Amino acid sequence: MQKIKLWDLPTRLFHWLLVGAMVALFITGQMGGNAIELHGKVGIFVVGLIVFRLVWGFVGSTYARFGHFFPSPARIKAYLGGEWKGLGHNPLGALSVFALLGLVGLQAVLGLFANDDIAFQGPLYDLVGRDLSGRLTGLHHLLANGLMILVGLHVAAIVFYVRAKKDNLVKPMITGWKEVSQGETAKGGGLVALVLALALAGLAVWGAMGSWMPAPPPPAAVQTPSW
Ligand code: HEM
Ligand code: HEM
Repeated sequence: MQKIKLWDLPTRLFHWLLVGAMVALFITGQMGGNAIELHGKVGIFVVGLIVFRLVWGFVGSTYARFGHFFPSPARIKAYLGGEWKGLGHNPLGALSVFALLGLVGLQAVLGLFANDDIAFQGPLYDLVGRDLSGRLTGLHHLLANGLMILVGLHVAAIVFYVRAKKDNLVKPMITGWKEVSQGETAKGGGLVALVLALALAGLAVWGAMGSWMPAPPPPAAVQTPSW
């Protein structure tokens, strides 16, 4: 057996920050009221996290790259036939990784246009107006339930691997290292890649905050009758 580096630090930080943010989002979303202010801020942070991970999927280290674990039909077939021998996300796990990244990203984007019918409007609310915002808020509620199920399946699959298959996937997601009989340590994902991914994530956060939008026109002055 030998020890190899499987998950680089940015991928691990991404994962555990996302877990923390999602827990906070589910709690503050359910609380509503004043907690929605914090909910919106954490949600915008998640936009940054997802964009970071999307870029890291192209410039990160070996096992973090989408090309490495893209679930092509051939790979899925090999996995189902018990012939898959790779490291990192297996082809079925990869399907759930893409579903999680896509749907969490979509949920965060929907939130940007949402409103709570009281005092809070997402930062991009003005782009869509009241009616469409109402419909997107409805989808935001619906997808929250879908995500809860998907996350439940994700955690159940991890527990299944640890208990039934005796393969502890959690430890490498914490330490980065895994003991394998054969395989190469992760390469790539250096400082330039990190700066690029952080810069694009920062740009996405700035876009999501809506600060680039023109200020709404001041309310029309009330005409005071001359008498
Ligand atoms: C809100 C909750 C969660 C979300 C949204 C989530 C999302 C994700 C995503 C997107 C990945 C892919 C990682 C990447 O390549 O960037 C992943 C992988 C992983 N997650 Fe989670 N996760 C959640 C909770 C958890 C929890 C509670 C655990 C621990 C029990 C966990 C353990 C793992 C492990 C071990 C992997 C790597 C799986 C593998 O080796 O293929 N996750 N998760
Ligand atoms: C992945 C990120 C997000 C997740 C997982 C999430 C999750 C949730 C959940 C669980 C609820 C409560 C739904 C319910 O009670 O049925 C909620 C409500 C809400 N979210 Fe998010 N949210 C996210 C991002 C955002 C963002 C970025 C914003 C705005 C900046 C936002 C704005 C809102 C608003 C305004 C509500 C209240 C809607 C109402 O009271 O009808 N969310 N969200």
